[in-house]
Amino acid sequence: MKTIIEPFRIKSVEPLRYTTREERERLLVAAGYNLFLIEAKDILIDLLTDSGTSAMSTEQWAALMRGDESYAGSESFFRMKRVVDELTGFRHMIPTHQGRAAERILFTVMCRPGHVVPNNTHFDTTRANIEFTGARAVDLPIPEAADTQARLDFKGNMDVEALERLIQETGAEHIPLAMLTVTNNSGGGQPVSMANIEAVRLVTSRYGIPFYLDACRFAENAWFIRQREPGYASWTPKQIAQKMFSLADGCTFSAKKDAFANIGGFLSTNDDRLAVQETNLLILTEGFPTYGGLAGRDLEAIAVGLQEVLEPAYLNYRIISTGYLGRHIADHGVPIVEPPGGHAIYIDAARMLPHIPRAQFPGQALAVELYRHAGIRAVEIGSVMFGDQARHELLRLAIPRRVYTQSHIDYVVEAILEVNARKEEIRGLEIAEEPPFLRHFSARFRPVSSVGQDASPAADVPGGPVR
Ligand code: F0G
Repeated sequence: MKTIIEPFRIKSVEPLRYTTREERERLLVAAGYNLFLIEAKDILIDLLTDSGTSAMSTEQWAALMRGDESYAGSESFFRMKRVVDELTGFRHMIPTHQGRAAERILFTVMCRPGHVVPNNTHFDTTRANIEFTGARAVDLPIPEAADTQARLDFKGNMDVEALERLIQETGAEHIPLAMLTVTNNSGGGQPVSMANIEAVRLVTSRYGIPFYLDACRFAENAWFIRQREPGYASWTPKQIAQKMFSLADGCTFSAKKDAFANIGGFLSTNDDRLAVQETNLLILTEGFPTYGGLAGRDLEAIAVGLQEVLEPAYLNYRIISTGYLGRHIADHGVPIVEPPGGHAIYIDAARMLPHIPRAQFPGQALAVELYRHAGIRAVEIGSVMFGDQARHELLRLAIPRRVYTQSHIDYVVEAILEVNARKEEIRGLEIAEEPPFLRHFSARFRPVSSVGQDASPAADVPGGPVR
């Protein structure tokens, strides 16, 4: 059979609410053209994130009722711990309310001013939590990752030579840990090969540097390894994941991604001394070590989700359906980060909208137009989010797990192709108001021409913007 169907049927539904174009235009003005400031009820298809937005299974909902809400020694904790131990093999597992809480605890314990933490590409909360300790977060993606059009099997890999150079220049004693993010979210949701994980293990071992995985999307990464890396075709996703974890000294994990949970996470380590310090910090801000800021029922949902996510039929559907969105828009001329990643498709907005200069936020302009046209919400990953540090001007369409069907995705494809057909009409934006940090969450924008002056260098581009 050629058609890959959703490997589940639907028992409980949430109605979607339609809005008119006029309503959306009013909502955009009221929200200062920032889609984070639009209420979810006014969104038709929400591709803002794949985090915490999964549909839970009947088994997960059933498990919630087993939640043991005891403050200390909850049965639910031990059920989750058994699943995590079998999967990761790490000596210690500390539950946290989400991934960034695990990051904060790990970096508070390990990092000091003057330290450097390398990663293939740090996610923004990871970078922020490292920088908050006074340490420096360094991204070392392979050079090919800079070209959004390059089609590599493992474009999320770390540049291992650059890692070794960094260690020699910085001194191993100033590098408290090295990390690999699987899959590489900020690098386009691209996978990391087992060979690359092994190479990073080898280099970090040689210099005595602890090596951690940011394992949010470990199962999607395992599936890519099974499909693309020689030698793994007959392995189960679980065996591949177990091998990935066995190469590391610990991990941070957000259960909001590959555990189908709406909240939760954990921090793992093999280091007994660190585990004591981490547990003490956990008690200070998250909670007792057998619940770590979560309800017992959340621990149950994670335990079940971690097993379901490794089902081959699920992972096959997941990766193929993300690729389906990517191929259907890319084959009709919309430039995406190639090849399609695991959890999201990233449109290269700078390439799609060359008439909008970076200073006028092509990714944000595209996000606004897609909402205005079709009620779809996606997120800019570019100069709005990262300022001068932005490497690309992207629009991320993240796909919640088990939530949308193929016809929802067909609607998204149609909407993007319609916007693409008249892309010359899309205008840039400028910032009207912005907060001092993480401005993408609350900045307000206005269309460039609405202030009655056009400072746009795009006016010089032949066939430039239609106003
Ligand atoms: N690491 C990676 C690679 C992530 O993608 C995220 C979250 C985190 C850490 C932090 O986990 O949200 O549970 O605190 N990514 C979400 C996203 C928010 O939309 O990509 P968290």
